Amino acid sequence: MWKVLAQLAVVAPFAHALLRFPCSQLVTQRFDPLVTPGIVSPHVHQIIGGNAFNISMDPNVDISKTSTCTTCKFQEDLSNYWTAVLYFKHPNGSFIRVPQMANQFVGSPNGGMTVYYIQPANNQKVTSFKPGFRMIVGNPMIRTKNVPANSAEARSLTFRCWGANFQSDPSYPHPGTGPLDTIALPPKACAGGIRANIFFPSCWDGVNLNPSDHASHMAYPIGDVPRDGLFFMGGSCPSTHPVRMPLLFMETAWDTRQFNNMWPTDGSQPFVLSMGDPTGYGQHADYVFGWQGDALQRAMDTCTDMSGQPDGCKALHTIPDATMNRCTQQVQVNEVVEGKYISALPGCNPVQNGPNDASMPSSCNAISTTGGVGGPAPTVAPPVVNPPPPVTTPSNPVYTPPPTPANPDAPMQTHYGQCGGQGYNGPTVCQSPYTCKAQNQWYSQCT
Ligand SMILES: *[C@@H]1O[C@H](CO)[C@@H](O)[C@H](O)[C@H]1NC(C)=O
Ligand SMILES: *[C@@H]1O[C@H](CO)[C@@H](O)[C@H](O)[C@H]1NC(C)=O
Repeated sequence: MWKVLAQLAVVAPFAHALLRFPCSQLVTQRFDPLVTPGIVSPHVHQIIGGNAFNISMDPNVDISKTSTCTTCKFQEDLSNYWTAVLYFKHPNGSFIRVPQMANQFVGSPNGGMTVYYIQPANNQKVTSFKPGFRMIVGNPMIRTKNVPANSAEARSLTFRCWGANFQSDPSYPHPGTGPLDTIALPPKACAGGIRANIFFPSCWDGVNLNPSDHASHMAYPIGDVPRDGLFFMGGSCPSTHPVRMPLLFMETAWDTRQFNNMWPTDGSQPFVLSMGDPTGYGQHADYVFGWQGDALQRAMDTCTDMSGQPDGCKALHTIPDATMNRCTQQVQVNEVVEGKYISALPGCNPVQNGPNDASMPSSCNAISTTGGVGGPAPTVAPPVVNPPPPVTTPSNPVYTPPPTPANPDAPMQTHYGQCGGQGYNGPTVCQSPYTCKAQNQWYSQCT
């Protein structure tokens, strides 16, 4: 037994370890304590995580101590994460929020997002974010992106056009890759909804926790994004940002299906992000670190489950979906943002197609104060019209790994050693009598 454990321990660092877990919706409103602390934000965000979230959040206050509940699967994660909300623009000019649905293989969170903390495939050690750490990816004002298609900047924010029942292109299962994942909002109706894929940069300058732009302390690893996306981007960090952090990745699952038969007759796509962006190029997300103590570092050091199943991470504690879903906040801005058709996007957000940057109207009659609401937060999403059929595939996202090229000169792998998987480039042939068996798309083992 010890021998097996010892060998597994040696094997584990080769693996492409990750945590993957759902966080349901905490509240949806015009708050953005990073960009516009203390005032009502220009556009609507959906917020997940700990309930210390507020209109302003002092970086010196440790939210892992002031939050009393979290909408995330791990009890230790009291961080906050937020992104823009998607609206459908009816041909008659009214808008309604697109409901969010539970992502694939996450249980039954109430809307929200799926969060991933991914470690590099090449055995680099990652350093956890620290208390006070905050970052933003993306820019809500832009309406075009003139960057090389394989750059991290291009691939970090994309939208997957799902076929029915979460169907993806089997040749490109990974987020941000292949013809179904576009940098702009999908140009055609997506039978199974749309998933937003958001990768934050993972290289830190090692000094600044929260610079005034909330972004210049972070950078992407050097080089082009490989065929299988940022998920599998080993690479090294630039010398200006030498510290490799977990790759933070988030997915939002939008149930656009009920709108697919209401597209404008001119064929233009009818969805618009809450900042008045019908292109998708202005997609953005914010992160406020709030893990308890060294919980995230411990998880990164010891949780090497290649499928990222929350229950597989013994360093952390999971909470039931119902407990996550009970953690909500009252809306503090007295305006309708969801659940019914509204005549304009909340805030001052005329739809602006670009390609020039969006401009803020000099005045509009949007509410700019909090208060006068009371009562519980409205339920997140209107009921899903056609619930997705039950998923019958195994309980974690398993894809057939592409064949790993055989190298006759390569050494042979020993019992329990890794012998394949995306992002792996070690020995692929097992010593007799063992054979190489795929455990998931990232990991095959000699057994
Ligand atoms: C949010 O901030 C307001 C004051 O700005 C305060 O009254 C309220 O208690 C805070 N809410 C939470 C959940 O901290
Ligand atoms: C547009 O259509 C929706 C759905 O039928 C309706 O609720 C909304 O009031 C309409 N808006 C206008 C301006 O007619």
